[in-house]
Amino acid sequence: MTKQPRKILVTSALPYANGPIHLGHLLEYIQTDIWVRFQKQRGETCTYVCADDAHGTAIMLRAEKEGITSEQLIDRVNAEHQADFRDFLIEFDNYYSTHSEENRELSAYIYNQCLKNDRISQRPIIQAYDPEKQLFLADRFIKGTCPKCKTEDQYGDNCEACGATYTPMELINPRSAISGATPIEKESTHFFFRLPEFQSFLKTWTRSGTLQPQIANKLAEWLDAGLQEWDISRDAPYFGFEIPDQPGKYFYVWLDAPIGYMASFKNLCARRDDLNFDDYWRQGSETELYHFIGKDIINFHALFWPSMLSCAGFRTPTAVYAHGFVTVDNKKMSKSRGTFIKARTYLEHLDPEYLRYYFAAKLNGNVDDLDLNLQDFAQRVNSDLVGKVVNIASRCAGFITKRFDGMLAEQCDEELLLQKFIAAGDDIAAQYETREFGRAIRMIMELADLANQYVDEKAPWVIAKQEGKEAELQAICSNALNMFRQLMTYLAPVLPAMTQKAEAFLNTKLNWESRTHLLLNHKIDVFKPMMTRVDLDKIEAMKAASIEPDITPVKQAAPIDDSIEPIAPEIEYDDFAKIDLRIARIVKAESVKGADKLLQLTLDIGNGSRNVFAGIKSAYTPEQLEGKLTVVVANLKPRKMKFGLSEGMVLAAGPGGKEIWLLEPHQGAQPGMRVK
Ligand code: MSP
Ligand code: ZN
Repeated sequence: MTKQPRKILVTSALPYANGPIHLGHLLEYIQTDIWVRFQKQRGETCTYVCADDAHGTAIMLRAEKEGITSEQLIDRVNAEHQADFRDFLIEFDNYYSTHSEENRELSAYIYNQCLKNDRISQRPIIQAYDPEKQLFLADRFIKGTCPKCKTEDQYGDNCEACGATYTPMELINPRSAISGATPIEKESTHFFFRLPEFQSFLKTWTRSGTLQPQIANKLAEWLDAGLQEWDISRDAPYFGFEIPDQPGKYFYVWLDAPIGYMASFKNLCARRDDLNFDDYWRQGSETELYHFIGKDIINFHALFWPSMLSCAGFRTPTAVYAHGFVTVDNKKMSKSRGTFIKARTYLEHLDPEYLRYYFAAKLNGNVDDLDLNLQDFAQRVNSDLVGKVVNIASRCAGFITKRFDGMLAEQCDEELLLQKFIAAGDDIAAQYETREFGRAIRMIMELADLANQYVDEKAPWVIAKQEGKEAELQAICSNALNMFRQLMTYLAPVLPAMTQKAEAFLNTKLNWESRTHLLLNHKIDVFKPMMTRVDLDKIEAMKAASIEPDITPVKQAAPIDDSIEPIAPEIEYDDFAKIDLRIARIVKAESVKGADKLLQLTLDIGNGSRNVFAGIKSAYTPEQLEGKLTVVVANLKPRKMKFGLSEGMVLAAGPGGKEIWLLEPHQGAQPGMRVK
């Protein structure tokens, strides 16, 4: 009797709709995608849904800054995210948005259920408020001077310099990071999810095998310390869902975000006859539900979410799998170092399967951070995939094609060795199942070493030159290609594009089940290269393209002085760059008859002399100027003046009167030098 397929629903965290996907995010989507592909290849019924997390103040402000509506912003970003995921071969069954009708309805339903069960409370709270923007300010939108160590420009909840924690109103000189206004305190009624009521439920749930041990232990500490009510409302203006019957009050983005998992699935069910929403979400469902997330969002998924679900009468997750954070060269990803690499920038330079492989090779089932070392990345991909795996096929395929018309041998004379490859599959599968991808890859590479040893020992290129050894040659190459097929079957969840190429070459579908029958007396196709080596120059180019200068805001704005003439309208850098500034020596300075402000200057600008009329007579006598250096606009179109032709503009000018600036002759400055 064949086993019934498992019914599995899988999610990755919903990326915020206010920024691009980067390599840090991709760890999660690649990890989940590998796991899902593995389940599908094993014949399980596995569904993978995701969505953009489209709500919240940050998205609203971002849209405002770009001069578009929040809806326009989230639509654009959704399309960008989907393109990035598609190009990294992440295959969702549905990719949706939390800003959807399904999500609005489900969020209202869950909230109403919690309300009915007396798990929602309300009370007024006092919060910082931006009187100019007319907006309540979350802590991260307030900046000021640390009350303890007096470091300026610290965020509203803690000081990066001394580590002190405080409330935003305790900051010295607090100001809104949005408008710069001084925040005031303002009262408003908020809604709370009564989390403490779920204390005993959570104590059991977090210990029932749903969490990695490391995380269960951490949560046990919090649970013992006692839980607090969770603030689930925000005041208008807010981009999100209005709370039923509470005009001007919105669900906090983190309330409807995880419900977005359900909504995305519901949206999929509407067009898939084989999937039923209740089947997967009703209490007591036999189906499996897994959330893949980063370690930073554990409390939302392991405390609030299961409590809300159980309160509203839904099933809770089978497990929540958290992963660590991506660092690049052991440091946090950084824009100024060029290690904050966007998905799109990567794709412009490198093959997505390199990264899929590298992450797989380094992933395990726990919450450790994962370092992306770009040297190691190149070396690993080149030596494992190109040097070991593809090499097996490329060394044997040609003989089969040229000498045997593409036919593999009828019989296998290396049963034992090949059985070893087949048997390893069960062990490898167990590693994939428990997200020990690194171990799975290690086992696969050990097999690849065995296969290469086999080819080295049998040296088909030597046999090929010997008379009467046709059968032996065909057997060796057929054995090696069968080994290659096993390896590619095991790598398929990680390398979907390369798998397709291998399937075309081997002229067969690769899957876990059929791998146990060897490919014998089977026609294969011509071998074509399946993966090229990682080019180190491309890595450098990718890093260079990722560098963004640190934009350090001016620490303390200088006071604004109304008596100063306003700054002229902004010009483009290109306009500025057109100006050719040169050092000039004032060779001769003379008064101009009939002009009381002008001096006629003869300038040496290195390659010739220029005649320039300058309005600086009130500040200098001709004698004071002769021999001095100044800066001149050397490419200004000559201008005909009443007294003659002026061939440039001297920048030794000030507001008038005595304050006119000149350069003192200086060792370094020579006429003709360009000023930059
Ligand atoms: N919108 C929330 C999730 C809501 S889920 C109901 C969110 N979005 S996020 O865009 O900030 O992050 C999405 C996922 O990417 C999270 O699981 C987060 O942990 C993960 N990562 C973001 N940066 C990461 C790294 N540098 N490294 C690894 N994962 C990272 O959180
Ligand atoms: Zn401090």
